[in-house]
Amino acid sequence: MKIFVPLDSAAKALGADAVAEAVAREAAARGLDVQLIRNGSRGMVWLEPLVEIEKDGRRLAYGPVTPEDVPALLDGGFETLGPVERIPFFARQTRLTFARCGLIDPLDLDDYEAHGGLAGLRRAIAMEPGGIVAEVTASGLRGRGGAGFPTGIKWQTVANAAADQKYIVCNADEGDSGTFADRMIMEGDPFTLIEGMAIAGLGVGATRGYVYLRSEYPDAIRVMEAAMKIARQRGLLGPDVLGSGRAFDMQIRKGAGAYVCGEETSLLNSLEGKRGTVRAKPPLPALEGFLGKPTVVNNVISLATVPVIFEKGAQAYADFGLGRSRGTVTLQIAGNVARGGLFETAFGMSLGEVVNDIAGGTATGPPVKAVQVGGPLGAYMPVHKFDTPLGYEDFDAAGGLIGHAGLVVFDDSADMLQMARFAMEFCAVESCGKCTPCRIGAVRGVETIDRIAAGDASAIPLLTDLCETMKDGSLCALGGFTPYPVMSALTQFPDDFATQKEAAE
Ligand code: NAI
Ligand code: SF4
Repeated sequence: MKIFVPLDSAAKALGADAVAEAVAREAAARGLDVQLIRNGSRGMVWLEPLVEIEKDGRRLAYGPVTPEDVPALLDGGFETLGPVERIPFFARQTRLTFARCGLIDPLDLDDYEAHGGLAGLRRAIAMEPGGIVAEVTASGLRGRGGAGFPTGIKWQTVANAAADQKYIVCNADEGDSGTFADRMIMEGDPFTLIEGMAIAGLGVGATRGYVYLRSEYPDAIRVMEAAMKIARQRGLLGPDVLGSGRAFDMQIRKGAGAYVCGEETSLLNSLEGKRGTVRAKPPLPALEGFLGKPTVVNNVISLATVPVIFEKGAQAYADFGLGRSRGTVTLQIAGNVARGGLFETAFGMSLGEVVNDIAGGTATGPPVKAVQVGGPLGAYMPVHKFDTPLGYEDFDAAGGLIGHAGLVVFDDSADMLQMARFAMEFCAVESCGKCTPCRIGAVRGVETIDRIAAGDASAIPLLTDLCETMKDGSLCALGGFTPYPVMSALTQFPDDFATQKEAAE
């Protein structure tokens, strides 16, 4: 009998380690032949710790499980949720990037291979580098870190650059509030990121890779380190990648907690041991990146999606999606929701369907007031915009952004003036200080919102002007995108700004 208890950080925070200990203890006491596997999460956080038992060819889910439930679990007296694949939240997904996450033992390369792993890399090895880049371009994959830039074009720029050394840098600094897709895949299916980086290396002619991984993710760091060691032992990384005659190896570098180090140029500075401040572009990192050499900087999910594109073919991936947003989006649903977690679906589903239908509205009962999509720099989407389909262009047209696809749901008790103030304060705290509109503008922004809260209506046009300046004059997305949450709060929820004023009067 196999028993799966997640090692995922969210499951651990909800008691998975104690459940795993109880399973081991109880199984030993009963003399049961149990193989305890610490898998990744299936992404249904409200059911964590979600335990699965595989017996007689059937794998059944149970959750949430406490250590006290374990005797009943082993007796068969704990009610099952059935197979994970039949739980509606899971059944409605299109799992491509996350197909193996939670299903396999994250550190078992044979298990990985038995579930389609390495097929993509083997196919890429048989291709010319130009063919590899063309395949990514044909898939329509766009950067999942937030900007949605076509990955194939980025790779092509690096491939075309002449240099004695090129690099693949994976941005695993996942700093957006309410996001956890990068962490989940690194903890639950680390080989897929390693495989994706190796394919990127073969495609653009880079022999070295770095994962810039935030120090707040100790479990992801541990799993990735262990997976890289196994990959090296098994020839997936090293001087001769799977007998291809081509080299690729990689390292983890820990970030130290600055939000702005998720911006690619400050990430590169930090990686080089410098202070994490933003560099002006051009030059693009694709031409002058890490140590001044051509560098692919891609988000974890972009790189972790590459293996499935090569396994199933670019067209199979591109067949999913909406308009120019091809493939799947890995939504991370958080905030006050009944069912939060990782939901992978083809682009095109409406925001309202995700929030109300999939996530089940608020956990505590009151109606949803707004959803912040795309992290702390994303716009607050009001309920009347819930028919917006998930697609980069569609969200842009609705005044929002998809970003890294984090959704934070707020109920009707949220005070949107305070949320706007928080956005400005966040920017002021996290600003790297390089440019004036952000460094000074964000501080003035907090003061201006405080004036509005105190009843000074003349501060409202000032705030609008300030947001325009920050949007147009900031060097990077931190200062340039802070106006999104601020202005969406002001324009979509004017009552919250007026109420404060009336209260003051
Ligand atoms: P950007 O639009 O300047 O660039 C996107 C990417 O394309 C960059 O890697 C850039 O170097 C590359 N690029 C642009 N033109 C290119 C060309 N001709 N050839 C090759 N590469 C090219 O956007 P930026 O500033 O990198 O990112 C902004 C986005 O980041 C925002 O949309 C926001 O959603 C997201 N973001 C994500 C966060 C997270 O935690 N994941 C946090 C903050 C912002
Ligand atoms: Fe730095 Fe802010 Fe300017 Fe970005 S916008 S370069 S974080 S000061």
